[in-house]
Amino acid sequence: MPVLQQVQTELVNYRDSGISVLEMSHRSASFAQIAEHSEKQLRQLLGLDNDWEVLFLQGGATSHFCLSAMNLATLGYADHIISGHWSKRAYQQALKVAPARIAASSEKIAFCNVPALSQWQHDDASGYVHITTNETIHGVAYNEIPAPDLPLVADMSSDFLSRRLDINRFALIYAGAQKNAGPAGLTFVLVKRAILDQVPGGLPSMFDYSLLAEKKSMLNTPPVFSWYVASLVLDWITAEGGLIKMEQLAKEKSALLYSQLSAQGFYQNSISASARSRMNVVFRLPDSALEDIFLQQAGEAGMIGLKGHRSIGGLRASLYNAMPLQEVYTLVEFMREFERKYG
Ligand SMILES: Cc1ncc(COP(=O)(O)O)c(C=O)c1O
Repeated sequence: MPVLQQVQTELVNYRDSGISVLEMSHRSASFAQIAEHSEKQLRQLLGLDNDWEVLFLQGGATSHFCLSAMNLATLGYADHIISGHWSKRAYQQALKVAPARIAASSEKIAFCNVPALSQWQHDDASGYVHITTNETIHGVAYNEIPAPDLPLVADMSSDFLSRRLDINRFALIYAGAQKNAGPAGLTFVLVKRAILDQVPGGLPSMFDYSLLAEKKSMLNTPPVFSWYVASLVLDWITAEGGLIKMEQLAKEKSALLYSQLSAQGFYQNSISASARSRMNVVFRLPDSALEDIFLQQAGEAGMIGLKGHRSIGGLRASLYNAMPLQEVYTLVEFMREFERKYG
């Protein structure tokens, strides 16, 4: 909310520049300042030193399923860990452009846990491992980031900036901004400089991370407005207490909700306790008719967006950074009341 209010205040006349960010050239001094500031904030929040390049790109995580694979292809096979819908999609897309294979999967157990590091299968042809740290649809996450002996690449689209990170575990991270960090249209790519030295030659310019880094993410016109709003979100996260605070809140909010769920009770969730997502809490009711009533009554009480993803159904409460703790208390109270009526 504070970020939206600031956007509203600055929309027509950005900080006395006389124009809106929407009208601004990405080569202008005002935008250069926004770009510089946002990079500084992100570096500070994540503890990124000069070994890292920070890219503000377009295309959503879906484009970077392929682009990351193309840029890393000289390393060897991309060993993908399949822990839900998005990691499967990342693998299927990477396979179209570079050598990729499945090193472990929890699909057989209906993604109720993440494959443990001890189950990952690698060999001499392995170049790097790809994981999805939080599965937005299945509600399952690597709450502890594994430490394989290979470079680790992660899609962090739905838990980026919601947790502290030992950044040294990773070689590359990509994340669409739209969950925790800003509007759709912007995708963060954080990549170790050493990795950029190995990008294959001949990639189309817009796909080449080393060239995009060299051009400071401005090889073509970047999504200036999304970038600007993300910059305000980074300021907001910093002012709220940084990633320590975001993580603490995520733990608190998700624990509140999980305390209402059990494997067999009225509200059911079968994800292993250690892999329960702190961003996306999925649950089911004893039947789908009751789920429809739940959604309708929740909507009437002002709680929207609780429908599970169309691919798996059920219910899902997303607890991104912008979701206030108080609203989770309200949802939990609603759930208790609903169970008293229908349980
Ligand atoms: C974990 C994860 N990866 C990838 C995607 C796809 O992102 P985009 O729509 O930005 O391409 C999503 C979208 O929700 C996601 O949650």
